[in-house]
Amino acid sequence: MIYKLINSSVPLYIQLYTQMKVEIEKNLSAGSKLPSIRKMAQDYQISKNTVESAYSQLFAEGYIESRPQSGYFVSSDIKNYLPLTKTIKQTALPKIPHLLYNFYPAQLHNNNFPTKLWSSLHNKIMKDKIDFGSYPDKQGEFTLRLQISKYLSHNRGVQCNPEQIIVSSGFADSMFIIATLLKSFTTQLAIEFPGYTVVRQVFKNLGYSIENIAIDSNGIRLENIEKSHCKLLYVTPSHQYPTGVTIPISNRFKLIQWATKNNAYIIEDDYDSELSYNNRPIPALQGINDNHCVIYSGTFSKSLSPALRVSYLVLPTKLLSIYKKIFTYPFSGVSIDTQKTLELFIKEGYWEKHIRKTRMLNKKKHDIMKKSLLFYLDTKIKILREGSGLSLVIIPTVNINWKKLQELANDKKIKLYYIHYDSTATFDALCMGFGGFLDEEIPNAIEAFSEIFLEVIQ
Ligand SMILES: Cc1ncc(COP(=O)(O)O)c(C=O)c1O
Repeated sequence: MIYKLINSSVPLYIQLYTQMKVEIEKNLSAGSKLPSIRKMAQDYQISKNTVESAYSQLFAEGYIESRPQSGYFVSSDIKNYLPLTKTIKQTALPKIPHLLYNFYPAQLHNNNFPTKLWSSLHNKIMKDKIDFGSYPDKQGEFTLRLQISKYLSHNRGVQCNPEQIIVSSGFADSMFIIATLLKSFTTQLAIEFPGYTVVRQVFKNLGYSIENIAIDSNGIRLENIEKSHCKLLYVTPSHQYPTGVTIPISNRFKLIQWATKNNAYIIEDDYDSELSYNNRPIPALQGINDNHCVIYSGTFSKSLSPALRVSYLVLPTKLLSIYKKIFTYPFSGVSIDTQKTLELFIKEGYWEKHIRKTRMLNKKKHDIMKKSLLFYLDTKIKILREGSGLSLVIIPTVNINWKKLQELANDKKIKLYYIHYDSTATFDALCMGFGGFLDEEIPNAIEAFSEIFLEVIQ
């Protein structure tokens, strides 16, 4: 074999090493003797150092071995490990299905994000003294937690201090923390039905058994909780997902009484309470509890951006010491620059202004979608959830063929989100997200949906 060594930006020893490696893999048998360093240097008119570096790299990777007084040889067991370099097959890039209309219920339009402001705040914090050489606070930056705690007590009635807050990267991350913390306390979780599937998945993955508790027009049914004997309960009290019902104050007190009496914990998922269009946001359950049995979970996904992946937990003080014992390693998955930018965003008053703007923009989309649905489908549907969040829930008042609806929607590239209210039905309702659309797209999207809906009426 003649190696081709050329003048290039690739160092000569790398060129030699790479070509020798291929030669060993393809043509040389185990134990074959290699030319001496001196001979190789002479043959190729290169320095002995260059050959030594190439041999040393091949030696370090186990391609060759050195035998005292005899020189270098291809490793005796090399063929057991070949081929070492696999040819990576070029696979076609996965095709991302093009959707005409996507009714995803948890989406904001990109225009909703304050890009200019965010990048100017980001530039500002990059000029400040961020220590990029060290691990940040594992619970999330204290100064960000301070801003979140102020926001929560002022706007959501949550009683907390920054010590109790854990900055996490999304709801699933928050649930992972809770499930890990409480594993020795209980392995059963009671959840609302219908409800948010992510909570079920995370706890199930961590070995918990899940119990569904039905809801009615007052939210989760208290008598069923009493019967369940669970010690951990997940609820969305201000805006039940997906039905949108609110747990009234009397039932909130009863829930807290139940948890106190049974030494149980309640996970309060307060995911979108900022987006209330017809009345003021309902204060959090955590606030009426003196902070003992409610684990509060919040997120920046619904009003700021789901792409940033910033959420947080407020732990009752009695769980803090357990948290500190279990999570001793660097934990918060949110990057330091995102945390610092967000901190400044809240501190300088932009967050509250942004919430007001997001609420106004999405109320408009909500109203357009509602009007369009009633225009095209009139009494053929009933709107079950409205007035908040980023989606409406509708239920057909006529018999429809759900399977055919799915097929037609796929054909027309319309993505629908099916839910079931009644546990015996496959599906019986649809969650129609409006947040991801521009205002002017909504009537067309609903017209396209209505066309297929009308086709599947039985
Ligand atoms: C019920 C519920 N809880 C929490 C979340 C927040 O999820 P994340 O913080 O991971 O974006 C969502 C998002 O859709 C939700 O629907």
